[in-house]
Amino acid sequence: MHKDWVAILDFGSQYTYLIARRVRECGIYSEILPYKIDAQKLLSRKPSAIILSGGPAGVMARKSPMCDKDIFNISIPVLGICYGAQLMAKVLGGKVTKARAREYGKAILKIKSSNSLFKGLGKEEAVWMSHGDKITALPPGFKIIGSTNNARIAVMGDRARRFYGVQFHPEVVHTPKGKRILRNFLFDIARCRSSWNMRSFVQSTIQMLRDRIGTEKVLCALSGGVDSSVLALLLHKAVGNNLRAIFIDNGLLRKNEVNLVKKRFKNYYRINLKVVNAQDIFLRGLKGIKNPEAKRKIIGRLFIRVFEREAKKLGRIKFLAQGTLYPDVIESRSPWGGPSATIKTHHNVGGLPPHLKFELIEPLKELFKDEARAVGRELGLPDDIILRQPFPGPGLAVRVIGTITKERLNLLRQADWILIDEIKKAKLYRKLWQSFCVLLPIKTVGVMGDKRTYENAVAIRAVTSEDAMTAHWAKLPYEVLERVSSRIINEVKGINRVLYDISSKPPSTIEWE
Ligand code: XMP
Repeated sequence: MHKDWVAILDFGSQYTYLIARRVRECGIYSEILPYKIDAQKLLSRKPSAIILSGGPAGVMARKSPMCDKDIFNISIPVLGICYGAQLMAKVLGGKVTKARAREYGKAILKIKSSNSLFKGLGKEEAVWMSHGDKITALPPGFKIIGSTNNARIAVMGDRARRFYGVQFHPEVVHTPKGKRILRNFLFDIARCRSSWNMRSFVQSTIQMLRDRIGTEKVLCALSGGVDSSVLALLLHKAVGNNLRAIFIDNGLLRKNEVNLVKKRFKNYYRINLKVVNAQDIFLRGLKGIKNPEAKRKIIGRLFIRVFEREAKKLGRIKFLAQGTLYPDVIESRSPWGGPSATIKTHHNVGGLPPHLKFELIEPLKELFKDEARAVGRELGLPDDIILRQPFPGPGLAVRVIGTITKERLNLLRQADWILIDEIKKAKLYRKLWQSFCVLLPIKTVGVMGDKRTYENAVAIRAVTSEDAMTAHWAKLPYEVLERVSSRIINEVKGINRVLYDISSKPPSTIEWE
């Protein structure tokens, strides 16, 4: 499907994703693969270049991660970054020495010999370093291309074999010319041509879906979030009415959500969508349950049960499509795991019921989140879907703290609606990662008119974040907070107090449960 593509072998650096992103930004498809991949297997997929990522280990340590050495014997250009460069030096006969001190941060790279890798760059460039060990002797065939004060062999290269090693990180923004260096490697050295963009992705994916699905039927669960919306629209474009979409109203959704999804996907896009009212089933299942993880488990289980029941009603369906994204795929097989892997485990509400006998289709599994958004744009999805704040699978169940009842869900829904309305009016919605209300399991005393009240309290949660791994509480303007508070207390009967959550993650989490 992709003419030219780049294999990125992952040695566990936190920047590996970024390498993949940068390569794709150059219009070349890239894939992150386990570092141990067999060279012949890799060769059979005909990559145009290989990039060895950085990693937390030292190449001199015992049991340090090692790739199949044959990747240097299959005539494919290789760029080693940091650990990847040291590994290249070690495997090809150079020397790496344990450093006494780590070099971390900005350094000035002095370019020693002209080379296509640095085409268009000055004699000196700022680069970002983060390494312990050092390359101290070149492997045969290599030349020093650049040095820093701390590292004589900061960049080495073998022009004939098209092997390059850089001790710094060209993929991070702190290396201002990093992208140019990567472009030089990809276009000049590895002679890639760019062929990866969202338009070509959409076209080839629609074709692929048509070929694969043929005249069979395909099922998908629509949640109203970005990924499943993009998925449903792609499938609809590909196979029209042979798509059967199911939207399960679990009674834990935000105000007006069901209408919105119906209006948009059924009436506007004319997708063959079945909206299933399963509110009672979920409410019954959650009755009396306080524990957040128990809530998640019950919701996950009921989702599968309802989905399965509805799917059966639709007759024989061969395929099930899911909106799995690339980060989910790599996380689940990353050799290092890492904190993001554990976060994901609770995001599997709506995951594939393992015993259902469908053939699985995951057309978005090559995409990063913002690429999925770009596909949505390409398909004509409006910004209010594409730029929606994330909403957790278990929905309001983890925002009604403690036991869940219809009444409490309603209270929260009304308060949340007001918050979002005011946040949008203040033009803050897109600046925030998430903003929502949480209904607390306490009552407090108030006074309204001449009467004493004894009612519920809600907390406002608003955070900024890049990726939900860390988050800062948002410094919403007092005027906005004031309007939200006064509207909630005046308009929502049953709430007489509003609090503002000023905790960041870590150590708090974004959701309260
Ligand atoms: P926390 O609360 O762990 O949330 O800081 C991080 C991000 O994940 C979302 N979240 C969930 N999403 N199912 C989901 O689909 C869940 O069970 C779940 N729990 C948290 C949360 O909204 C935030 O964006």
